[in-house]
This record gives sequence, C-alpha cells and structure tokens, in this order.
Amino acid sequence: MKKVLITGATGNIGKALILELLNFGDQVLVTAGARTIEKAKSVFSDNKNLDLVHFDFENPKTYENKLHHFDTVFLLRPPHISKIDVFVPLIKEIKDAGIKEVVFLSVQGAEKSKVIPHNKIERLIKQNEIPHIFVRPSYFIQNLTTVLHEEIKNKRSITLPSGKAKFNWVDIEDIAACSAKLILNFSEYHNQAFDITGNENKSFDQVVDLINMEVENKVIFVPVGPFKFYRLKKREGMQKGFIIVMLLLHYLPRFQKEPQISNNVKMLTGKEPTTLKEFVKREQELFQ
Ligand SMILES: NC(=O)c1ccc[n+]([C@@H]2O[C@H](COP(=O)([O-])OP(=O)(O)OC[C@H]3O[C@@H](n4cnc5c(N)ncnc54)[C@H](OP(=O)(O)O)[C@@H]3O)[C@@H](O)[C@H]2O)c1
Repeated sequence: MKKVLITGATGNIGKALILELLNFGDQVLVTAGARTIEKAKSVFSDNKNLDLVHFDFENPKTYENKLHHFDTVFLLRPPHISKIDVFVPLIKEIKDAGIKEVVFLSVQGAEKSKVIPHNKIERLIKQNEIPHIFVRPSYFIQNLTTVLHEEIKNKRSITLPSGKAKFNWVDIEDIAACSAKLILNFSEYHNQAFDITGNENKSFDQVVDLINMEVENKVIFVPVGPFKFYRLKKREGMQKGFIIVMLLLHYLPRFQKEPQISNNVKMLTGKEPTTLKEFVKREQELFQ
C-alpha cells in the first residue's frame, strides 16, 4: 500500500485529488495535510476515516521529522506564497527523509519562465535530485465558479484585462484523475512533466457565449485595461498581491501564443477532457 501525503488538502486540487485517490481502496493510504485541522474536518466530513495531519508550508515545525513514513508527497504552491524560501527547508526535509516520489502541481508553461515561482520550485526539486513528476495544468475551468463567481452571480458580468486572449480550459477533476494516475504509477512516469489541458482554447467572450446558451439571465464579458482592472479590484477591497496574480494570469496571455493542447488527459485516464459546455451543464445551478 502506497502512503501518500497530499498538501493543500482543503483547496481545489487537494480536495479533488484526495477524493479521487480514495476510490483506489487498499492501493493507497491517503493523508491530508492541512494548515487548519478544523477546516479539513469540515471539508472531509463525509470521509471520517481519512487521516489528517497539521501541515503548514510556512511553519517547518509542522513537518520536521514527520515525513519519513510517506512514500509519496504531493506538493502544490498555495497562491499567496510567491517566495521560494518557504520551499527550501521543505524540499531539504523531503530529501533528508528519503522520500523517493514527489509530485508537484506546477502550471502550463512553467518551463519557459524563470521568474515564476513554479519554475523556481521545479528547479529546486531537480537540484536536490528528488525523483519527481511535474503536473502542469492550463487554466482551471473552475475559476468561473470560484474566483470569478461572485461577479457572475451578483452582477452577471466577468470583468478582466484579458481582451481577446485565448485560454485553455481544464477541469480540476481531470487534473485530479491524472495526478492520481501519476501518483499510483510513479515509476512509469518519473522525472517527467505533463501538461494537463482541455481540448478547447477559448477567449472570455466565447466562454460567455457558451454560458449564455445554458442560462436565462445572460452574462456579459467586460474587457478592461490592466490599470482600470487594478483600480476596480482595489476599490472592491481585493488584496494587492491577489490583484497582481489576477493581472498576470489574465493580461499576459494577450502577448503570448495560444496554449498548446496536449492529449495527456486521454493518455493517462482513457477519457476525453471535460468540455466547457459539459462543465456549464454540470454546474448549471452556479451559473443561474
Ligand atoms: N487557477 C488556475 O487557473 C491555475 C492553473 C494552473 C495552475 N494553478 C496553480 O494551482 C495552485 C493552486 O491550487 P488550488 O487552486 O488547489 O489552490 P487553493 O484552492 O487556493 O488551495 C490552496 C490550498 O493550500 C492551503 N494553504 C494555504 N496556505 C498554506 C500554508 N501556509 N500551509 C499549508 N497549506 C496552505 C490552503 O489551505 P486553507 O484552506 O487553510 O487556506 C488550501 O488547502 C497554484 O500554485 C496555482 O498557481 C492554478
């Protein structure tokens, strides 16, 4: 039985991955690493037997001398952590604990930009010669039902500095299914990176058209420039660091090539990735 620690367990990917791994019964013993145990208990209230441990990226005391009994560690970078320093003691601890399998949730294109934190973390793992797999997803479809949801629900609009830029849209459940497969078959795929994408590159005005095919109360896309976006979000009370993350994520693609579409979801899971249309139908209530 493979013993796996999943960090960021209460977040989008961590939760979906844990639920996916629990389907594999005796093949895997899952431990959820959470910075707040109480929150983890509530997120996994339907999974009372799940092992929970206190794990805080920013507090090495929560993981020092506690990792050696895991075979695999699934790592992600919580969105607010941009400083690589946080990962230095953790990667050292993983190395010292003799862990031979690290799966890191990175981002599509991480290999091309030395300044983004995912690239730095990938390099840190490699420099420490830790056997690894990098999972590099494209733009989460669930951004529509998480970070962008409040505006969709309350104002029936999506305001972003993305212009006509096309994003590749991937379902978190596909990322979780691929990550589970990679964890369970680590030796087959080790020391490789996998882009995890959907099959569609679409701009926000195209996505809004798709949403509007399924809802009565129409949604509009409001394209804005980066400065206006910054001012709007500041006025709404969004934290400066998060506004910058949103800006980079949505403004830079205007100057980049369209994302590459990979067939890794099909290759790893045997199924086609979720389409935007399927997603909007599946989560229809959230779009009403
Ligand atoms: N959104 C996209 O389109 C996209 C695309 C590609 C890649 N990514 C990457 O995906 C990652 C985000 O994944 P996600 O959406 O699953 O994130 P998320 O939903 O924001 O979840 C982050 C998780 O990390 C936990 N966390 C925060 N600070 C922590 C700390 N100090 N110690 C331990 N745990 C901590 C959170 O716990 P609490 O519940 O306690 O806060 C939560 O469980 C980012 O690295 C992002 O760049 C995102």
